[in-house]
Amino acid sequence: MQLTLDTDARTLTLTQAGQTRTLPLYSKAAFEALSRQWVRVGWNQKYQYTFSWMGRPVIQLPEDMLRMQEVICDLQPDVIVETGVAHGGSLVFYASLCKALGKGRVIGIDIEIRPHNRSAIEAHPMAGLITLVEGSSTALATLQQVRALVAPGQTCLVILDSDHSYAHVLAELQAYASLVSVGSYIVATDGIMLDLADVPRGSADWATDNPTFAARDFAAAHPEFRIEQPRWPFCESELDANITHWPGAWLKRLA
Ligand SMILES: C[S@@+](CC[C@H](N)C(=O)[O-])C[C@H]1O[C@@H](n2cnc3c(N)ncnc32)[C@H](O)[C@@H]1O
Repeated sequence: MQLTLDTDARTLTLTQAGQTRTLPLYSKAAFEALSRQWVRVGWNQKYQYTFSWMGRPVIQLPEDMLRMQEVICDLQPDVIVETGVAHGGSLVFYASLCKALGKGRVIGIDIEIRPHNRSAIEAHPMAGLITLVEGSSTALATLQQVRALVAPGQTCLVILDSDHSYAHVLAELQAYASLVSVGSYIVATDGIMLDLADVPRGSADWATDNPTFAARDFAAAHPEFRIEQPRWPFCESELDANITHWPGAWLKRLA
């Protein structure tokens, strides 16, 4: 694709597969086209590896964190389950929201919780709201531990941020979907991989091996879930699509 940005003419011209489209620069369509490229270049530059929350590194696009905050504030979950802990920044972020709301706690699952990360999470001011479970997210022993920590009838939100292969995410969706309460979500993060197959740090097989396709196929087989971007509680713009590393990630439980 070729993108020609002309700030004098106030246009953005896109050429792809022999087709040319010229957009007004200060338009919704131009913002969306520029954002897509910003996300791709930023991902390659490891922009998502430059943030921390309350002292812990968090490997997320801030736009996704803010949208997740809107969902948590609206849903007020009793339990947030996240697969993929790494340094613990996202767990601390969710726990800090629970603390501010006066409701909820967080369960974090990782195949390997490195000792320095475990120590820092366990010493953190939010530690009282965080339970760590070590093991593969799809292992039976892990699932038994997690299920024992979520009581029937609790409002539960699940975030999948561990191994992002199609097979693993589909297995996680099948394993964790029953924990999700009606009206809540299971979120298959990092599907941006499907749009990174051609970027320098990306991989060609991501065009098909990605979480977005796992979520799509899960939804097709499970009519009780629908892929649905959560409603923005505030919007005075014509914009309506998340700028995200999580395209097609939000599976809402309908029944
Ligand atoms: C992208 S990082 C998580 C980032 C974290 N949620 C954050 O926002 O800062 C992915 C984590 O998944 C873990 N992981 C990989 N395969 C896993 C598996 N099968 N089960 C559980 N965790 C796994 C890795 O050890 C790694 O810590």
